[in-house]
Amino acid sequence: RSIRVIGAPTDYGQDRRGVDMGPSAIRYGGLSDRLAEAGVATEDAGDLLVPRAEERDPDYRTPSQGKARFLRETEDVCTRLRGEVRESLADGHTPLVLGGDHSIAIGTVAGAAADADIGAIWFDAHADLNTPTTTPSGNVHGMPLAALLGVDEWAGVDWANAPSLSRENVAIVGLRSVDDDERDLIAESEISAYTMSDIDRRGLADVVSDALDVATDGTDGYHVSLDLDWLDPTIAPGVGTPVRGGVTYREAHHSMEQVAEDGGMRSMELVEVNPTLDQHNETAELAVELAASAFGKRIL
Ligand code: ARG
Ligand code: MN
Ligand code: MN
Ligand code: MN
Repeated sequence: RSIRVIGAPTDYGQDRRGVDMGPSAIRYGGLSDRLAEAGVATEDAGDLLVPRAEERDPDYRTPSQGKARFLRETEDVCTRLRGEVRESLADGHTPLVLGGDHSIAIGTVAGAAADADIGAIWFDAHADLNTPTTTPSGNVHGMPLAALLGVDEWAGVDWANAPSLSRENVAIVGLRSVDDDERDLIAESEISAYTMSDIDRRGLADVVSDALDVATDGTDGYHVSLDLDWLDPTIAPGVGTPVRGGVTYREAHHSMEQVAEDGGMRSMELVEVNPTLDQHNETAELAVELAASAFGKRIL
């Protein structure tokens, strides 16, 4: 297996500036060396060109697009990212996308799902199931999973390839900050949602094994979307929307080792690393380590 790294340096999807430097921070965190040590070949496709937010109008949208800031810019980035991811897979590479805020997942997953039926495991403190109508913030990083599932006004959005995912093959792991409308959607749908309380009660290994069953059931493979705010902010401070009570360092590694052992991962992304909020690049370095575990790094 060989990996193609694709940088998507966006910060359109949220309001803490600096997450657009995530791809650089992750590369400086030793990505290619750590992956080489894990025994996987990588090639780097570089970064997509993303215009600075200051040069754009966040509020440009039609009334039917509701409250979603930088939607036009997000569409532009995600359309190009979708093409890159699709092409990587067609060339026989596993795409590893570096964000950027989580809105880029719309492009990554649309590309991964373009020529296959895939599941997804969403490692995140948040559900990312808002729509331009339900969003409390207007931030598209709180919406990508809803976009990919084609929830409400996201249905049929072509740049999301919506629906790119089906609800019965999606698992969210690590939830601890969920908005009211997201909670209702989870309650009435077949989305598998595992909270930190589930993890406290059952242990993360057991939960991830369920999530793998969900993502692999009848699919050609699955996407892993790793939002660094999944982790506890004491070990991953460099994120825009930290929430206390996240998973620990060893738990996180073990989850990624379970993914590696399963072998069905088709694509991965590392999102929400914001070096301006980080301590000595430790969140980016943690992202690198977790990617190495997910791609099969072994201690012995
Ligand atoms: N639910 C909140 C919102 O919609 C926070 C979302 C945070 N998402 C993320 N990818 N960090 O704004
Ligand atoms: Mn190649
Ligand atoms: Mn999150
Ligand atoms: Mn997220």
